[in-house]
Amino acid sequence: MERSIALTGFMTAGKSSIGPQLAMRLGLGFTDLDALLVQEEGAGIGELFERYGEAGFRERESGLLRAALNGPACVLSTGGGIIHSEDNRRRLARGSTVVWLDLRFETVRFRLSEAGGSTRPLVRQLGPEGLRDLHYRRRPLYASCADLRIDADRAAPGRLARHIAAHLQRDASL
Ligand code: S3P
Repeated sequence: MERSIALTGFMTAGKSSIGPQLAMRLGLGFTDLDALLVQEEGAGIGELFERYGEAGFRERESGLLRAALNGPACVLSTGGGIIHSEDNRRRLARGSTVVWLDLRFETVRFRLSEAGGSTRPLVRQLGPEGLRDLHYRRRPLYASCADLRIDADRAAPGRLARHIAAHLQRDASL
């Protein structure tokens, strides 16, 4: 694979758990943008939201995306909000094969409740109705820059990684 594969999708879609398995199948490295940001800043996502505000967090996240897309091809796991910026959507579409892990809001709600209290700042800030609205508003943004949409509601990460790898290897146009 010459192009990076970017995994996009709403919180809890499974980007960080599918990513390493997909990377292994494709013989590529794996980069988790949020994990990289946390490592570089030495602070958790919640703390970064407090320190820089959401806009500052997004700027730093976008900077890492630009750097990753300029580097060697890899599988990239992106934060759920990366698609808010039109510039990011354009860069993703131009510089990578974008795989959108789509899931219903009911699945998001279930997974967040299973996780037993989320460390994600937006979950605390928005509450269930605000999150539902955000999920609804983001779907067209994910769709607008996706090369491949995957139904991520049910299957386990390993199975989805296998399914995505097969798609990418079969369809040379992706
Ligand atoms: C966010 C999703 C999070 C993280 C931050 C903001 C969002 O990443 O970047 O909490 O705006 O949806 P995940 O999608 O990996 O949870």
